[in-house]
Amino acid sequence: MGNDHDTSDNTYGNREDAEDSPEEGENSSIGLFQKYLKDRSIFKNREVLRHSYRPHILPHRKEQMDTIASILAPSIRNETPSNILIYGKTGTGKTASVRYVGAELEKACGSVGVECNVVHLNCEIIDTQYRVFAQIATLLEDGEGRSSDRPRSNIPMTGWPTDQVYTELKNLIEAIGGVHIVVLDEIDKLVKKSGDETLYNLSRINSELKKAKVCIVGISNDLLFTSYLDHRVLSSLSEEEIVFPPYNAPQLVDILQQRADYAFNEGVLDENVIPLCAALAAQEHGDARRALDLLRVSGELTERKNAEIVTEKHVREARNKIEADSLIECVKTLPTQSKAVLYAMLLFPEMDKQVFTSGEVVQVYRDVALALDLDVLTHRRITDLISELDMLGVIKARLVSRGRYGRTKEMWFGARTKKILETLQQEDRFTDERLNQIDISRFKTLFR
Ligand SMILES: Nc1ncnc2c1ncn2[C@@H]1O[C@H](COP(=O)(O)OP(=O)(O)OP(=O)(O)O)[C@@H](O)[C@H]1O
Ligand SMILES: [Mg+2]
Repeated sequence: MGNDHDTSDNTYGNREDAEDSPEEGENSSIGLFQKYLKDRSIFKNREVLRHSYRPHILPHRKEQMDTIASILAPSIRNETPSNILIYGKTGTGKTASVRYVGAELEKACGSVGVECNVVHLNCEIIDTQYRVFAQIATLLEDGEGRSSDRPRSNIPMTGWPTDQVYTELKNLIEAIGGVHIVVLDEIDKLVKKSGDETLYNLSRINSELKKAKVCIVGISNDLLFTSYLDHRVLSSLSEEEIVFPPYNAPQLVDILQQRADYAFNEGVLDENVIPLCAALAAQEHGDARRALDLLRVSGELTERKNAEIVTEKHVREARNKIEADSLIECVKTLPTQSKAVLYAMLLFPEMDKQVFTSGEVVQVYRDVALALDLDVLTHRRITDLISELDMLGVIKARLVSRGRYGRTKEMWFGARTKKILETLQQEDRFTDERLNQIDISRFKTLFR
């Protein structure tokens, strides 16, 4: 093994039509085994590579998990642990590590008969004070492994004044007693959406509790979000701070290898596959999620092609696919005016002009906006939108000096203009009838 046994182009000859071929009768040894070749699947358990999967072992996070454990350890003696603020770039294992430590802590406390609850909230979804309080209550009542005879609150999903929700939550916590670790994952999203009042109220709750204790663990991949916090809130929240460094390539190899053992059938990965996924993800700030995506998509592409072995070629294709998918996702969610600017840019390659300037884009945009029945934005607004498209990576751009005419921005597309165009055309307003009103030949002459 070690070769890519793609059924359409392989050692068995070009047999794309193998199943229909008259030679493939009962006596053909290839026909007899063809089915088994195809049935041999790449994945043993694809779920292991999904984001939602919680691995039992987290290589290269021992130090961080030990630190978190040591800070939370007073819970075992029914004492209040310090609050913790955890930082680190995306995909550095923050969520996975905290969930792991949380589960272990609950187990340890359970074994010595101490009440300890760890509740994990994703503030990307739970992003208002009301919802945070209500969700903590729900998780304390009905979370994984909670017994049914617990005290209950009756906080409705909406409708109460926040004061009342706070009081009800406080009463619930007091009635349960023990230590409550509230993990606010993606805490920056909560603060940006609804300010720091939630954190202020949670950090003062201990002074109103007699039997129970609350500890807050905040997790963020945005180091700057603390500038949104009142200094009292910040100093209370960051009694302890832990930074999760990015993974390097050899560390990512270990992480991938451990998951691959469960995810793939034996022998289906070419030996270069994991190192390549790791190297590519290491270039992108050591993101384990990206590394796992690359590995999973490589496997999926291999399977789709009916090949038997995942090779470097599949990894590179997977990288292109992931990049293209995220680019298209990004284009889809652009506001209509940005789409109009982007459409104007797409007309330049049609004029055989691969590189164009913002001044030229503004001129074409005006025709596009009129054809699409949009308000025509000012020059200034359009250049802002162009900068945004550059920042999002939809186009590439550079500033060039034009002598006494000052500086101008030159831009061009990477690949995939066809895909971008298709995506724009999905928007209702972008009908052929409207777009055909734009006279490209006029610009062709103009920009020559
Ligand atoms: N050390 C590790 N061992 C095994 N898997 C890991 C490790 N670190 C991260 N992962 C996996 O990588 C993915 C991303 O990890 P995680 O969700 O913990 O990142 P994060 O730091 O919380 O990122 P974000 O800031 O984007 O939320 C998950 O699927 C997780 O299981
Ligand atoms: Mg996370």
